[in-house]
Amino acid sequence: MKNIVVLVSGGGTNLQALIDAEKSGIIQGGKITCVISSKDGVYALERAKNNDIPTRVIPRKEYSDSVSYSKAILDALNEEKADLVVLAGFMTILDECVTKAYAYKIINVHPALIPSFCGEGYYGLKVHEAALAYGVKVSGATIHFVNEEADAGAIILQGTVEVQKDDTPEVLQRRIMENVEWKLLPKAVSLFCQDRIEIVDGKAYVK
Ligand code: GAR
Repeated sequence: MKNIVVLVSGGGTNLQALIDAEKSGIIQGGKITCVISSKDGVYALERAKNNDIPTRVIPRKEYSDSVSYSKAILDALNEEKADLVVLAGFMTILDECVTKAYAYKIINVHPALIPSFCGEGYYGLKVHEAALAYGVKVSGATIHFVNEEADAGAIILQGTVEVQKDDTPEVLQRRIMENVEWKLLPKAVSLFCQDRIEIVDGKAYVK
């Protein structure tokens, strides 16, 4: 059984999807053993507590830079004996001390079709604002491994939705969450926990 540590910063609907998937048996071979938040008081922490999952808060604002913050996260992941780290709405970019120590063991959900609308500065509603401003006709979400470059690690799964003419960023965000993120993130986590993702020449394939 792999130890899954989930990192969050906000409402935690993706965390909820993972909790529900674990309960219903969609996630095979892994168990959420800890939730770490970069902010105190966020609803994701309540979701964890409601499901008896241990939590830790490591506030980003208490650290002067990304390197010292990432070292604190690394210590916590090691203490928790994490086999898989899931960034589920985690709004901080992790330094290479974490991404190298957990190479191909950190999975992120990004709310767009990478390589569009991704990288530094593209997070949360900003992603959907950019997609609507560009006028794309499809958008979606990408589940990928995390490496040293923001949103540039090997893609595991992607799914699409259609963009409607009168969409607001909030409406598009919700459609992508419901139809793609909440389904594909648990699926990718389960595949990882069953050792069904292989890496060939830096690309991820489902076995
Ligand atoms: C989700 O849409 C997730 O894809 C996005 O933030 C939202 C978090 O919602 N993540 C990013 O933008 C990361 N770059 P949640 O807290 O309800 O899961």
